[in-house]
Amino acid sequence: MKTEKNAQLRLAKRPQGEAGPDDFELTHDQVPSPRDGEVLVECHLLSVDPSSRTHWNAGQSYRSMVQVGQVIDVGVAGRVLESNHPDFSAGDYIVGPGGIHEFGVIPGDQLTLCDTRIAPLSSWLGGLYMTGLTAYFGLLEIGQPKEGETVLVTAASGAVGMVAGQIAGIKGARVVGVAGTDEKCQFLINELKFEAAVNYKSLTLYNDLREATPDRVDVIFDNVGGPLLDTLFRRLAIGARIIVSGATSQYNNETIYGPTNYLALATMRARMEGFIIFDYEDRYQAARVEMIEWVKRGELKLVENIVDGGVGDYPNVLHRLYEGANVGKMLLRLPTAN
Ligand SMILES: NC(=O)c1ccc[n+]([C@@H]2O[C@H](COP(=O)([O-])OP(=O)(O)OC[C@H]3O[C@@H](n4cnc5c(N)ncnc54)[C@H](OP(=O)(O)O)[C@@H]3O)[C@@H](O)[C@H]2O)c1
Repeated sequence: MKTEKNAQLRLAKRPQGEAGPDDFELTHDQVPSPRDGEVLVECHLLSVDPSSRTHWNAGQSYRSMVQVGQVIDVGVAGRVLESNHPDFSAGDYIVGPGGIHEFGVIPGDQLTLCDTRIAPLSSWLGGLYMTGLTAYFGLLEIGQPKEGETVLVTAASGAVGMVAGQIAGIKGARVVGVAGTDEKCQFLINELKFEAAVNYKSLTLYNDLREATPDRVDVIFDNVGGPLLDTLFRRLAIGARIIVSGATSQYNNETIYGPTNYLALATMRARMEGFIIFDYEDRYQAARVEMIEWVKRGELKLVENIVDGGVGDYPNVLHRLYEGANVGKMLLRLPTAN
């Protein structure tokens, strides 16, 4: 019988608006034991995702909601302590679906083995995991950018956005980013080779967008929704594609802001299409191989924003995403990593 304690964060009640400290409960339970086909993982990094908040509501979605009293599920990266699955051994590094906890038992067939000689573990949970894959499949399958087209990405300095923008550049598009500070805009242009970047908090937003997109926009990779997306409808080119990746600006709202300028879809013969990354699961590995090749060639930079803390700090780190405090993939590094 194991005697160590496992710090875990549970949903205490369903939040109203943005989640606060009273919506969570920190518990210290026994470290679980893996059964046949399962692996015991010591979690070093937790993925912090804006959409987590939407999984704490009641009701239905594309995945099951977190129930009150349950440990909150998130992507994790860590080290295998004990394995009852033939593909994994103690000491291996893995990423997979886990929870806000220090130790977790995960079915081996849901884990990905990470070669940390190719990329650090943080990148395996960032650009090479759900956010990077979302950028890859959303852009290439739905947006299908062609050489010379203008691709505009919102939340462009975030985890999904920065990978989407860089892949658009690799495909020969003219890439324009939208982000929340002038420093982020400079970062996109100077470090990630975006052609232009616009601060959406500017008082002259529409004029700035018009200047940055003189030939209008062929592909919008949208991560934020709300009023910003509504403004972007006014920049669509004929035949444009809007990729609905997510709507971070709306996740804490009781009522979702819907676009009023949507008739531009008719005028510009444009389309707007959403997707869920899980539908591409059988192609994740092939996508990673291509992305790793781009990383090796220096064409794709994977950037992580790592915050140190315990599992109880997860809600505060999530709050920082809504404030736009991150550049790159937001991760919480647990004391178990040391
Ligand atoms: N469809 C799928 O299968 C799928 C899978 C994974 C993720 N996603 C979606 O992808 C999007 C990006 O996720 P991520 O993990 O990469 O997060 P992220 O972009 O790294 O972090 C969120 C960013 O959103 C921006 N933001 C926050 N509040 C905003 C507001 N009110 N208006 C405009 N921008 C705001 C902030 O940047 P600024 O400083 O620029 O404001 C912040 O850095 C999310 O909507 C997520 O749900 C979709």
